[in-house]
Amino acid sequence: MNELAGKHIVLGLSGGIACYKAAELCRSLIKAGATVQVVMTEAAGQFITPVTMQALSGRQVFASQWDDRSAAGVDNNMPHINLSREADAIVVAPASADFMAKLLHGRADDLLSLMCLARPVDKVPLILAPAMNREMWAHPATQRNVVQLRADGATVLDVGIGEQACGETGDGRMLEPEELLYELVRFFTPKVLAGQHVLVSAGPTFEAIDPVRGITNLSSGKMGFAIARAAHEAGANVTLVAGPVSLPTPRGVGRINVKTALNMQKTLNVLSQNATVFISAAAVSDWRPAEAALQKIKKDGSGQVPVLHFVENPDILAGVARSPRASNRTLFCVGFAAESEDLLANAQAKRVRKGVPLLVGNIGPDTFGQDENALLLVDEQGTTELPRADKLVLARQLVGEIARRLRPGVPAPAAAAEAAQAPAGS
Ligand code: C5P
Repeated sequence: MNELAGKHIVLGLSGGIACYKAAELCRSLIKAGATVQVVMTEAAGQFITPVTMQALSGRQVFASQWDDRSAAGVDNNMPHINLSREADAIVVAPASADFMAKLLHGRADDLLSLMCLARPVDKVPLILAPAMNREMWAHPATQRNVVQLRADGATVLDVGIGEQACGETGDGRMLEPEELLYELVRFFTPKVLAGQHVLVSAGPTFEAIDPVRGITNLSSGKMGFAIARAAHEAGANVTLVAGPVSLPTPRGVGRINVKTALNMQKTLNVLSQNATVFISAAAVSDWRPAEAALQKIKKDGSGQVPVLHFVENPDILAGVARSPRASNRTLFCVGFAAESEDLLANAQAKRVRKGVPLLVGNIGPDTFGQDENALLLVDEQGTTELPRADKLVLARQLVGEIARRLRPGVPAPAAAAEAAQAPAGS
């Protein structure tokens, strides 16, 4: 997914064992469509060779301010100026304790710190991924430096927690390459949901028949999880209420696991009181066994089959949509409809029945468990088609569509606007 297409990243490495992760990060950035220019300190060269970084980035690596090679096509022997001028960001990963202390003081005795100091601060953001031993990270000097670097405009990312190369355990590990990639994609995402509290429900529910059996459905939760991620990328504070699925929680998203429709309802009713957007992507069981047997129902050899009685589950979305905050639009509710036929008519009818301003239709068998989907958005104004694509791509488009409805006057994202010209229904 070319999430960083067109972006030029200067990847700076300072000295630390986490330099091995920078190799993978470089690969991931390139896979995501970015171009990468590596700049290393002398200390970084003790941990990983410029040859490795050159091979992965496909560009010559710079390590010295006295390097007289042409830098970014300019021959004035000033790599500290030329290398940053076309950059969309300088990302220092790993950023050692020593390197951050140096940056803080505006010292510039090697190419990387010189380049950071000489960058146009309003055009080229500086993103630091700290990496160090837990005592170094916890030291008041480092914590002071982090505060000041942030105040000076740098984005200092979190650190990971866990085993460290030195054998100790604690805070200070550099984030993993995929986490860093996520942070960069988020960094570049327009914050169209800044200030919003987004509540997302996802996955199936599970309704027990007895202690070892139950009824559920084929929802994988992928669409809801992708929406939670996209909303967080767009600057929202996100809580995900998930039915039983084994998906990893998107970075930065709060997650509450629930099992049954009644659990889900209780949780969503409480959380929706503080949310500004509720996206109901969960596939809630319509019915549950009237009573779950306390012990496993046994086959007794007589050929007799158990008879199950069902009761209807509450419609969680319709209930939230009737709440006073939803009625006065302090809470914007978005429903989903998984249909097997006649998507447009079913989605329109469901929007009215659920009492929500926006309903997202999709074809159930085409989406359950799949990585791709196609969406049909139905609101008071009409319909918008989001053509088949990866669920994360669709989730980002949907987030743009929701943001536009929260703040009328914001233009439609290009892809959705084009799709809006296409005939509705699918
Ligand atoms: O009625 P149907 O199940 O097709 O409606 C789908 C929408 O309603 C989804 O947004 C789903 O999360 C929500 N729903 C609900 N409670 C139910 C059934 C569905 O909130 N019991």
